[in-house]
Amino acid sequence: MIIGILGVGHLAASMLAGFLRSGLDPAAILLSPRGKAAVLSARHGFQLAADNRDLVERSDVVVLSVRPQHAPETVAGLPWRIGQTVVSVCAGVPLSRLDVAPARAVRAMPFTASEIAASPTVYFPDVGEARAVLDRLGPSIALPSENDFEVATVSAAVYGWAQDLIRKTAEWSSAEGLDPAISRRLAAMTFVAAGQLIAEKDEPMDQMLEELVTPGGITERGLQVLSLRGVPAAWEEACVAVLDKLTKRRFDA
Ligand SMILES: NC(=O)c1ccc[n+]([C@@H]2O[C@H](COP(=O)([O-])OP(=O)(O)OC[C@H]3O[C@@H](n4cnc5c(N)ncnc54)[C@H](OP(=O)(O)O)[C@@H]3O)[C@@H](O)[C@H]2O)c1
Repeated sequence: MIIGILGVGHLAASMLAGFLRSGLDPAAILLSPRGKAAVLSARHGFQLAADNRDLVERSDVVVLSVRPQHAPETVAGLPWRIGQTVVSVCAGVPLSRLDVAPARAVRAMPFTASEIAASPTVYFPDVGEARAVLDRLGPSIALPSENDFEVATVSAAVYGWAQDLIRKTAEWSSAEGLDPAISRRLAAMTFVAAGQLIAEKDEPMDQMLEELVTPGGITERGLQVLSLRGVPAAWEEACVAVLDKLTKRRFDA
């Protein structure tokens, strides 16, 4: 199977690192000729397509990774064929805007943690060829509708907010005198531990937190400050703002 990457920028570079890490032969990957394509091809041995038409003709699965506003025009008029799958990772671009018939279009939302095969990647619809590609980047999660996919895409923004919180925590503790390298590692691994425990257990999250938050203890103290400063409400407002941006975006302009 040949995987074509249409749009070789920041996210594509992370996915390509994940594909290599998963053991995929670089000769089975074909890159569109722009962005980081030439450098990555020279470094790792990926194939380079002559142009986007050549890429579509030679690929079984095409991962579309251009900026959202460029997605509809990029796929238009290319020689799509029956049996081909297009996996669009373009945030907020509905399937209806991707004219790739008679190929099948799938939406997916990988994170840059693809690079270390740790991206929980949501996708819709559940097409086997797409799943086979996405499973190389971390745990893939099929969703039942495009509406669900849009809601789940908010997690791609939350992923960045979590990194920002990790940075803030690390900067605060190193300003307090903790070694910066230890601060960074501790803050990062704290978020990993919090997420992994919830991911691996079935108990209701309310119950897990109730057991964790000792009355009068340090976790409760911090939560009180965060609540007083409106952080939970602001977090929810940020999620709503991202969903709004995803669903109300206009690509006609
Ligand atoms: N960055 C993330 O962490 C992330 C996470 C999830 C989803 N996404 C989605 O991934 C997509 C790409 O994001 P990005 O951050 O990787 O953007 P990016 O770094 O700007 O990469 C986009 C690449 O597409 C190339 N391109 C544009 N039009 C093209 C065309 N017609 N033919 C061939 N190549 C073309 C650009 O080439 P030039 O440089 O020559 O213009 C650029 O190299 C976006 O739709 C975004 O919503 C990104």
